[in-house]
Amino acid sequence: MPQGPPLVGGIGSLATDNPVRTVGSFWPYATSVWDYIHRAMPLTQPGSLSADDTYAVTAFLLNRNKIIEASEVMNRESLPKVRMPNRDGFIPDARPDVGKNSHTSGDNKNQKSQAH
Ligand code: HEM
Repeated sequence: MPQGPPLVGGIGSLATDNPVRTVGSFWPYATSVWDYIHRAMPLTQPGSLSADDTYAVTAFLLNRNKIIEASEVMNRESLPKVRMPNRDGFIPDARPDVGKNSHTSGDNKNQKSQAH
């Protein structure tokens, strides 16, 4: 049976010598956790969880990471309001958006040079 990565703990450890990447310590948005679980988990039956089941198991993981109280109900209103510990741990990617679907207006130079 494949072993999943740790989902709980490691908060504040990312910049230390022993960084522990978990849902609690690494993911910047609680809504991404919901989306990932709803699409991909459980690994053996991806997509089998209902929206409500996914809110419930996401709430369980957030509570196990001490990000929300056990009494807090997660739903489409409350989940986006959750502030994850690593919310500010990401810096915008300064590289230009390249490729035929890039929305960088007037930057055809990039696309062109790529085509050659
Ligand atoms: C409802 C039950 C489950 C929940 C809520 C859940 C949740 C998660 C989450 C949030 C992640 C992403 C962790 C991260 O990248 O930081 C993950 C990854 C993973 N889980 Fe689950 N999981 C569930 C069941 C399972 C089961 C039953 C298995 C194995 C049979 C499993 C195996 C894995 C594996 C292998 C990954 C890593 C996937 C990758 O990196 O591509 N999970 N799971």
